Amino acid sequence: MKTYKPGEYWEQRLSQDFDLSGVGHKGLSLDYNIQLYNRRLEVLKSRLSQAKIDISQSRVLEIGCGNGFYTQFFTQHQVREYVGIDITSVSIDNLQQQFPDHRFVCADISELDVSHLEGKFDIVFAADVMFHIVDDEKFKAVIRNVACVLRSGGLLIISDILPQETTQTALHVRLRSKSEYSRLFQENGLTIRYIEPIFVIAHPSPTYGHHLLWNVITIFWKSLLRVKFKRWLIVDSMICRLLLWLDRKFLCPKYGQKTPNSKYIFAYKQ
Ligand SMILES: C[S@@+](CC[C@H](N)C(=O)[O-])C[C@H]1O[C@@H](n2cnc3c(N)ncnc32)[C@H](O)[C@@H]1O
Repeated sequence: MKTYKPGEYWEQRLSQDFDLSGVGHKGLSLDYNIQLYNRRLEVLKSRLSQAKIDISQSRVLEIGCGNGFYTQFFTQHQVREYVGIDITSVSIDNLQQQFPDHRFVCADISELDVSHLEGKFDIVFAADVMFHIVDDEKFKAVIRNVACVLRSGGLLIISDILPQETTQTALHVRLRSKSEYSRLFQENGLTIRYIEPIFVIAHPSPTYGHHLLWNVITIFWKSLLRVKFKRWLIVDSMICRLLLWLDRKFLCPKYGQKTPNSKYIFAYKQ
């Protein structure tokens, strides 16, 4: 029987492609993934600015820093200190070379002894990482670790899908519901303040939902991925632009909270 070994899985993916297709969606082209990452950044910046959160001068811990997309973001915002953790040596070695002033740690966040991180953080950030912690006990350990390293009043930002019920959609993907997050957060002194939708249809829908229309969208995405549409180059890029426009203008504001697709969750430590 096949099992998911996170270290091996990510070492292999990131060694093959140390770019946004290595960390992004495998079924999409590099150009499509780049456009999705730009949208992620746009939503993150907009929520930070609306909530008047100034991240400069913060001590930041990023979990699952991957190819450094967000390392770049935090560096540009002149955070006081940045520590990146990833389970792969390919990520840590490359990023340590690119960003010699930051600290990078190669570790599995569910097994890390957090006292090695020396002190508390103002911000803990984990984008598209939590749903790759498929083991429930390890997931609880990660939330405990995160709560433990955040200072009182500190901010946790994660991105996840939040379907109505917790579901495993692949060997390496387990999507937790909002109620599961809320329960674990509460047990660890964390309170959700904002949930900011990133995609409704521009990112392949990861799971079926409770509405017929959503299930039609999921079937549409499954069909596109099955015909390997990432090889259609210009068409793939045009589809991406159109879907992103729909998300930005109409779908995220109207349906983003309810549909099971990417969102940023902002939670504070009490
Ligand atoms: C989908 S990628 C996202 C990377 C980056 N956060 C981004 O949004 O571009 C998941 C990342 O988490 C890392 N990762 C997965 N499981 C991990 C674990 N248990 N501990 C630390 N890092 C992990 C992987 O190596 C990979 O770099």
